Amino acid sequence: MSHHPPFRPDSVRPGGTVTDQAVRATTGRSATTGRSATTDLEATLEGLLSVESFDPPAGFVRRRPVDADRAAAAADPQAFWAAAARELLTWDTPFTQVLDDTNPPFYTWFADGELNLSANCLDRHVEAGRGGRVAFHWRGEEGEHRDVTYADLLAETQRLANGLLSLGVRAGDVVGIFLPMIPEVAAAMLACARIGAVHNVVFGGFAPSAVRERMEVSDAKVLITVDGARRKGRRAPVKAAVDAELGDLPALEHIVVVRGPGENADEVPMTAGRDVWYDELLAAAGPVCPAVGLPAEHPLFILYSSGSTAKPKGILHTTAGYLLGATYTLRTVFDLDPATDVYWCSADVGWITGHSYIVYGPLSNGVTSVMFEGAPDYPDHDIWWRIVEEYKVTVFYTAPTAIRTCIKWGAQYPDRHDLSSLRVLGTVGEPINPKAWLWYHLVIGGGRCPIVDTWWQTETGSVLISPLAGVTPTKPGSATRPLPGISPALLSEDGRPVTEGTGILVITQPWPSMLRTLYKDDKRFVETYFSRFGPTTYVVGDAARLDADGYFWIIGRIDDVINVSGHRLSTAEVESAIVAHEAVAEAAVVAQADEQTGQAIVAFVTLAGERVGDAAVEAELREHVARRIGKLARPRRIVWADDLPKTRSGKIMRRLLRDVAEGRELGDVTTLRDPAVMSALAAKVAAAP
Ligand code: WTA
Repeated sequence: MSHHPPFRPDSVRPGGTVTDQAVRATTGRSATTGRSATTDLEATLEGLLSVESFDPPAGFVRRRPVDADRAAAAADPQAFWAAAARELLTWDTPFTQVLDDTNPPFYTWFADGELNLSANCLDRHVEAGRGGRVAFHWRGEEGEHRDVTYADLLAETQRLANGLLSLGVRAGDVVGIFLPMIPEVAAAMLACARIGAVHNVVFGGFAPSAVRERMEVSDAKVLITVDGARRKGRRAPVKAAVDAELGDLPALEHIVVVRGPGENADEVPMTAGRDVWYDELLAAAGPVCPAVGLPAEHPLFILYSSGSTAKPKGILHTTAGYLLGATYTLRTVFDLDPATDVYWCSADVGWITGHSYIVYGPLSNGVTSVMFEGAPDYPDHDIWWRIVEEYKVTVFYTAPTAIRTCIKWGAQYPDRHDLSSLRVLGTVGEPINPKAWLWYHLVIGGGRCPIVDTWWQTETGSVLISPLAGVTPTKPGSATRPLPGISPALLSEDGRPVTEGTGILVITQPWPSMLRTLYKDDKRFVETYFSRFGPTTYVVGDAARLDADGYFWIIGRIDDVINVSGHRLSTAEVESAIVAHEAVAEAAVVAQADEQTGQAIVAFVTLAGERVGDAAVEAELREHVARRIGKLARPRRIVWADDLPKTRSGKIMRRLLRDVAEGRELGDVTTLRDPAVMSALAAKVAAAP
């Protein structure tokens, strides 16, 4: 593969590092304040797209050295993980066993050790005299502030744990959690962990019917939910909807109802004997619930995730290995310093990113986080950046789709605020296109913050492939290299190792935070992840490319690969090319069956600003893609879309776009953030087939 020399305009120091001066010279923005001058940002981004690699920003001082970790993990991964588990976690009973790999793919880690996860996240910090430290700066969408300290959270967790015990919840029972982004959601998860109940969090934006399905298949005994939810000034009754959908579930014995923030004018139906107010439950419960050590492999949570079939998979994580993964990766990848950093992950707790990087990783490390209830455009499009400025956020973690949305809104919103507190930026969830990476780097990071593009999955529990902030030279669009102790590889269709080029991503050695099974479905677990290349090779479900420097480029899900005339093209690659065009805000590419070429590319494109999709832009775009990838990759068809169908976590649902492109009946649209997007698109496509 060809090598571009690193980016070295005159104002860049030897080594290819983009300095404040360089950023100013090339962008008219200051690296330290991010303020824009008159230079055209668009032209700058365009110019930087040819830069292949960025060294860590020169002024960045790494606080946690990692060279020793790399060496130790390379020499003996099990010894490395054992040392990390002893250093980072507090054990009631020390383990003597590390990995048990005698029955693959059913691995166990630290199995004879015992610890309490909530004690690791709360008690140990309070006992060390840090109870007054803020765990969460909570920010409500109407501007409310609430600071919850570690001591506050410990007190609340203990009362709720006692409350759950009083409702008959015992270790191993499943407790559903259906809550918005309020501190109670963390207390609920921790209270379950404290008594060994298995939590099953459902994203607050899901419909009650999805909650029902997840409660039913997991036999949840208790559900913790809220009276009503608010979004951008509107209110929706939640408890009443939950009753209508879940009222008749036989296993569900109790529903605990949190009084959510804001005024709730709706009548909240409460069934005597079954339903209990959260605050009343806490008031009646004792203040002390001792944290008893639980076996390392005690189940911690189930999190449902969509697979290639319609039936969601109940991914099961256990206690110690999961917590080790979340704790170690947060501090290592983001160079986190719990004493000084203010950390903010903009995800929702209903996703794995929220579990590992809003709740468990941050609390186990004892850092101060921001928790934000609202939407990024309410009351205005600058709310995120207002929050960064107000709380002096130092580490910010979000998704590429959010960045692209911000690009669409324009740099004037972040430019209103002082973002100079930021020192590390992260992304997760999908490949980031270089243009979004550069915009994030310049407009949000002021050119001075390393970006960590973190690759991982619900199944992996924590980040597996990512740059280490300030250490790894980054290439926009690449998740770079595996973390210490992680062994990814690429295989060809027939299972041969690919050392450079494209292949099927697998992980060849077990790691502590890996899923242990699919809840009550060992068979599907083995079939889904460990059948294609044998029981010791974890099949990720993504394709990736490995370059000559050993950098991983995640292409996307294996099912999103398009085959045009026998040539494989990734939807992500074509999208990235389209999005790199200055007229484009966002794009999604799908395959359409084609008699001649097998498959043809259809692109759904949202234009930036006031541009209108017409034949001229279409021709320009097709030519642009031809130039970036090759004629082969030119979309057969471009559909101008006002908006793209996204799940509530921000993932584009290409399945629905394929349905529209191929004129099929639309599949299930209930998981969409805005189902109306699909009918609009379908009408458009029908009008101009
Ligand atoms: C994709 C989210 C490229 C990938 C934590 C994976 C990514 C799936 C990245 C898991 C990244 C996640 N670059 N692709 N940095 N991170 N993905 O389970 O296809 O919601 O398999 O976990 O997201 O999604 P999940």
